[in-house]
Amino acid sequence: MTADDIKLIGVMGSGVMGGGISQTFAQFGYQVIVRDLNDEILARSRDTIENGRFGIRTAVTRGLMTKEQAQTAIDCISYTARAEDLRDVDLLVEAIPERLELKQSEFGRLGQDHQSAGHLCLEYLWLCHRRARARGERPAQAALRRLPLV
Ligand SMILES: NC(=O)c1ccc[n+]([C@@H]2O[C@H](COP(=O)([O-])OP(=O)(O)OC[C@H]3O[C@@H](n4cnc5c(N)ncnc54)[C@H](O)[C@@H]3O)[C@@H](O)[C@H]2O)c1
Repeated sequence: MTADDIKLIGVMGSGVMGGGISQTFAQFGYQVIVRDLNDEILARSRDTIENGRFGIRTAVTRGLMTKEQAQTAIDCISYTARAEDLRDVDLLVEAIPERLELKQSEFGRLGQDHQSAGHLCLEYLWLCHRRARARGERPAQAALRRLPLV
């Protein structure tokens, strides 16, 4: 898989990291689907992405992009509370709370359901690295052992 194969990006979690990551991908023209636990959280995240201090519309008022570019970026992002809507993405970015068991559970579920070719799981691997270091292991080995889960 190369970067050219990536058309649809899924983002798990729409908080500080997930919202910013979604916005950045959208501003680079990628279609993004962002998933969080419920519609209320998603509405707040959407407002931050569109109207927040560093949001897309604010970028227009700061002269960083045109109204047309902003609307195009806004239209690139869709929001969902359904985990299964991440099933067919080309690339998945995980940005949920830093609890290994939660991440394992979500990736375990996606490992069974997910149809896409590639995943990005930086936060998950980072947690594995830290636990491995604490056990005195070399992080790269620990990360490789975790990859089949993904
Ligand atoms: N904020 C930072 O500066 C920063 C920097 C580096 C790494 N991180 C890491 O990024 C991850 C996310 O951090 P954050 O600051 O965005 O947290 P956050 O609390 O702002 O956002 C997390 C979001 O995940 C959602 N969520 C919880 N369970 C979920 C699930 N099962 N499926 C989908 N969404 C779910 C929450 O509702 C919330 O909106 C954490 O692992 C954190 O350690 C954060």
